[in-house]
Amino acid sequence: MPAEALRERIAAELLAARARTAVLTGSVDDRDLTAQHSPLMSPLVWDLAHIGNQEELWLLRTVGGRDPLLPGIDSLYDAFEHPRAERPSLPLLPPAEARAYAHDVRGRVLDVLEAAALDGDPLLRGGFAFGMVAQHEQQHDETMLITHQLRQGPPVLDDPAPPPAPADAAALPAEVLVPGGDFTMGTSTEPWALDNERPAHTVHVPAFHLDTVPVTNGAYQRFVADGGYDDPRWWTPEGWDHRQRAGLTAPLFWTRDGATWLRRRFGRTEEVPADEPVVHVCWYEADAYARWAGRRLPTEAEWEKAARHDPATGRSRRYPWGDADPTPEHANLGQRHLRPAPAGSHPAGASPHGARQLIGDVWEWTSSRFTPYPGFRAWPYREYSEVFFGGDYRVLRGGSFGVAPVACRGTFRNWDHPVRRQIFSGFRTARDAEPRTAGRTAPGAA
Ligand code: AVJ
Ligand code: FE
Repeated sequence: MPAEALRERIAAELLAARARTAVLTGSVDDRDLTAQHSPLMSPLVWDLAHIGNQEELWLLRTVGGRDPLLPGIDSLYDAFEHPRAERPSLPLLPPAEARAYAHDVRGRVLDVLEAAALDGDPLLRGGFAFGMVAQHEQQHDETMLITHQLRQGPPVLDDPAPPPAPADAAALPAEVLVPGGDFTMGTSTEPWALDNERPAHTVHVPAFHLDTVPVTNGAYQRFVADGGYDDPRWWTPEGWDHRQRAGLTAPLFWTRDGATWLRRRFGRTEEVPADEPVVHVCWYEADAYARWAGRRLPTEAEWEKAARHDPATGRSRRYPWGDADPTPEHANLGQRHLRPAPAGSHPAGASPHGARQLIGDVWEWTSSRFTPYPGFRAWPYREYSEVFFGGDYRVLRGGSFGVAPVACRGTFRNWDHPVRRQIFSGFRTARDAEPRTAGRTAPGAA
């Protein structure tokens, strides 16, 4: 991309992220901004100043060589120094000052962007540092959307309904077949891919079947109605232990009204729609559902192969539909809707094998732990990925309605503890393909 076009692209991504940040932090009053709505989350005003602080650290100080704007605040906004539960008791910048700080940083960043050479230095090549900062703000916009969902009180965010599912949704096959063989996982060429997505490497994935669409609320209700939460057969020992101690009986935010399941969603209570992908389940619940269904969660490599492998060329695409950036026709991303679209939506975003909604709608739990790819190199800082490798984290793929296109790719990896379900997490299930007998045709074949 020519330098001027790249500069414009960067400015547009920074602007888009800030527009969403403004909505999420401008739609509640100062008391709500400084309150902790859940011990799992920071006060919104922490996210706001942390966004500005990361932008200052990377783009003003590291790239621009500037001095600190507000000496002494870095440690307040260092995610590793203070766990989320502790953040409300810190001497944080009050809302007006946090806003002014983020605004001040941004103004100076646009000057740095005008002057920056976007080649040469690996941190700037392809605009990486700017892309990383735009993604970081969008990641916190999803975090802040989660805080909004946990917040009590009347609705404050616009909530346009996604379009109904296309006519063919009801007739889709339950699963698609992804043929066995090697594929290229990860990337060495995507300019704004983060360190854990690198490098590209070959992985052999045996043939498997994958659900065409994510597991729906209707299907999940059958698991609940069948006593799935009361039968240890479906749960791993750790999952069962957690189910017992946490008293899990249904996805987070669900309540029962007689025979009807209701959910609370961004301040509204509504009937749980049967045709939408289930959201707000933890890994243990997803894993138990899959076992109940006689299936399993896909591995991370299976998920990525289903989402990227092009059987016609053998190469891996950026997205299921090809290499073009996502549009609203491809996927439900970017907080345009505050809910997943009905299962079977977005035929334009289907993979070559026919799977839909791999990108957007809900983050999809995989069976895999968060580990480095062969040849991984922490870059540009260890605390983005490396310090999380080897923990009890499970990988989630595909992005949700809450994440922006800039922070969502076929190679993008998210991770969380297996108990977490305040995130916009759902799943789909898989099974091994029938073992094929070499050198023989099926019985009855001519
Ligand atoms: C990749 C979503 C797990 O929110 O903890 C934000 C993203 N890293 N600031 C997180 C992130 C630093 C990260 N996740
Ligand atoms: Fe952060």
